[in-house]
Formats: sequence, C-alpha cells, structure tokens
Amino acid sequence: LEEEFSVTSNAFLPKEQPLTRLPHPYYQPWENLIEHLSRLLQNGTLRQKVGGLPVLSIELLSTEAELRRGYVVLAFLTHAYVWGGSSPSEILPPQIAVPLQAISSRLNMPPVATYAAVNLWNYHSSSSDFSDLDSLQALHTFTGTEDESWFFMVSVAMEAVGGHIIPVMLSALQNSSHPDKLAAALGEITQCIRVLGKILDRMDERCDPNVFYHRIRPFLAGSKNMVSCGLPKGVFYSLDGSDKNGEWKELRGGSNGQSSLIQLFDILLGVEHKTGSPDTKGESFHQEVRGYMPDGHRRFLEFVENKYPGGLRTAVEIMASEDDNAQQEDVKVAFREATNALAEFRNKHLQIVARYIIIPSRQASQRGAGLVKNLATISASETKKELTGTGGTALLPFLKQSRDGTFRAGDFCN
Ligand code: HEM
Ligand code: ALA
Repeated sequence: LEEEFSVTSNAFLPKEQPLTRLPHPYYQPWENLIEHLSRLLQNGTLRQKVGGLPVLSIELLSTEAELRRGYVVLAFLTHAYVWGGSSPSEILPPQIAVPLQAISSRLNMPPVATYAAVNLWNYHSSSSDFSDLDSLQALHTFTGTEDESWFFMVSVAMEAVGGHIIPVMLSALQNSSHPDKLAAALGEITQCIRVLGKILDRMDERCDPNVFYHRIRPFLAGSKNMVSCGLPKGVFYSLDGSDKNGEWKELRGGSNGQSSLIQLFDILLGVEHKTGSPDTKGESFHQEVRGYMPDGHRRFLEFVENKYPGGLRTAVEIMASEDDNAQQEDVKVAFREATNALAEFRNKHLQIVARYIIIPSRQASQRGAGLVKNLATISASETKKELTGTGGTALLPFLKQSRDGTFRAGDFCN
C-alpha cells in the first residue's frame, strides 16, 4: 500500500515526520520568510518581503519529502500573500506562482493551501505515536497561535488513529461473504469513528472560536466563490509580475472535506453525496476535492471504489436479500450502527461549525463590518447572504446534506 498509494500505518500521514527545513542552502530565502511568517503578517511587511525574493528553480528539490516541504512553504506563502493585507491581492507574484506551480505539477496537486499542505505534511510529533494530540505541534501557522496549531493537529491525530483501521477494512472487503467477519469489521469501524469523534470533541480545549473565526480562518480561504471577499475572478498566478502573462485560477481553500480518511468511510459504507451544483457541473463536492488530495491517496480511493463497488454496503445488501437468519440480522444492525456513527460524527461537526463560524459571524455582524476585507469581515456585512466555507461551499446546507446522506445509507437496515 505504501509503495503504490502512499498509504502508511498512519493512514494518510507520511510514515516519516515531514521535513522541518529544506536542506539545500539555495532555498534559505523561502525558509527565512516562513520561519517568521506570523510576525511579517502582523507588521504588514510580508508582501514586500515576497516581492524581494528571487524566483527560485525547483531543480534542487530532489526527494518526495523535499517536494512536499516546498509545497507546504509556498502554499502558506500564497495564502499569506493573498489575504495578508487590508484587501486581498488578486495577483500572486512570480516569486511564489512560478515555483509553486512547478512543484504542484510534479506532485499532481493544485497550487493552493490544501488539507495536505496545512495538515498532513505540516506536523511535528515528540512521540512516535502520532495519534497523541498533546505531542503534536504544527510546523507552520499564519498566526503563530497555539489555537491554530491545535486546529491543524486535531486532524493529524485523527488521521493517525485511522491508520489502524485501513487493513481491517481491506480484509473485511475481501471476506465480505462471512457474516460474522462482516459484522465484526463493521463494529470496528463504528468504534474507530467514535474515537475520531472524541478527538473532534477536544477542539475546544485549545482552539478558541473567536481566534479561529477572526484570525485563523480568513487565511484558509481559497479563491473560488470568494466574489464578495474581493476576488471576483479568483487569483492571477503571474509569471512576470504583470496581469498579462499568467493564468486566473479559482481554487477551493483548505477543508477537511479533502481528508481521504473520511471519504474512505463513505466508500466503505456506500454513502452517496448528492451535493453537486451548477458551478461544479453536477460533480459532487466530495468528488471534486479528490483532485485536491495527494495523488496516491486519490488513486487509493479510486482503487477501493472500483474493486468493491458500494463497499461493505453491497455485501450487507446481498446478505439482507437472502433468506433471513439471526446472523444476517446482526450484520444489518452492525451496518446501521456504523452509518449512524458516521452521521453522528457529522452532526458533532455541525455543532462545531455553529460554535466556530455561525455564532462569531452573528456577533461580528452586530458590531458592523470591519475595515479589512476577508472571510471574517465580509460575512459580518452580508448576513442576508449564505455564509461561505473556506472550501467554497454554502456551508450549512452543504453539511446538512452530507449528514443526511450518511443516515440514509443505512436506511435499508431498518
Ligand atoms: C467540511 C468547518 C474541523 C471534517 C467543512 C466545511 C466547513 C467546516 C465550513 C464546509 C466546506 C467548506 O469549507 O466550504 C469546520 C470547522 C472546524 C472543522 C469550523 C473546526 C473548528 C473539522 C475536523 C474534521 C472535519 C477536525 C475532521 C475530520 C470535515 C469534513 C468536511 C468538512 C469531512 C466535508 C463535509 C463532509 O464530508 O461531511 N468543515 N470544520 N472538519 N469538514 Fe470541517
Ligand atoms: N472549512 C472550514 C471553514 O470554512 C475551515 O471555516
């Protein structure tokens, strides 16, 4: 799995901890900026510092780990540049745009701060057990706050927990005609999702909703559906500093919707998301953001989906259609529990969204719009409109649809 799909014993985290610096001194100018990122943003000099960078070649990035590190550094610099001023910058200068696009095409990832850039490849752990949240620290943040590191690391701990379940799931898919094995595997999935929910519950421990909403979240916004924030055409990735030579891009910002682990649960339980909209040409958000996942992970999901269409749900349906017996009843109960657990997880997530986005946005709108134009201030002045997620969705209807689709996957077991 590791060789073919970069899936490790820590699920979708790399097996070795991410590099903390690029070893070659040639890349020192990037490292200098990223090391002081939050200070440069606070004193308002980040854009000017980026302007002073040389346009570096990516030729001296020689390993996969170095490419990932380069991607993390430049993805952070991209969002810091775009959102780090009193209004967003529509132009991304060549100092970032040129090397970022080169690395992105090598990694087959979009040139933007994806879940991989800020979570999967952006952690340090003082323990060999990456699921131990207290031992994790983000390598980089926009704000330099503990809140932001915690926000990123909650997801890293979850990914590490998920690592144990992947081999169990694959073996269950291979042995899905044995009712007892199937029921046992479904039980393990249920347990695993509940553990993930416990980790999600810890978000409040060190990530304050107001710090998240006002300081962290604006930097995570992408360039898609950000019209009211001042990016009507997205961001122009400039090859020479002008707005002539380059390309307009509208890309989704970071969202855990790009987590391969959660999408793997959906595949296993046969959850169908019908969240397509005209702007996605009917493709669901979940389908579209596969393009934002690391290449191997995307292929892994496709592999499981193509090899076992409908996942474990298909096996449960076949069993349910055969003559009734007690064992089949156990399997159906176990399946209902697993889909309920995943839907409950999404419910818990909706409650977080209420505390971290909906409530702070209402309080901000009562105070009136801010001077700075971004995701925190814009929702304050546009309360009549739908709030937008950093990933570019109309967040509440979208998240409710995802949750309801999850409940529905288990309906046939009622
Ligand atoms: C999607 C908010 C943490 C899992 C979303 C979306 C929002 C959001 C607004 C809609 C997509 C968009 O951005 O447009 C939040 C907030 C969080 C948080 C405010 C914490 C303060 C997490 C964590 C996970 C997670 C830790 C862990 C797995 C997901 C998933 C989706 C999503 C899977 C895609 C929708 C789905 O499949 O149900 N989140 N999120 N989120 N989030 Fe979170
Ligand atoms: N996707 C999350 C949001 O919209 C981070 O705030």
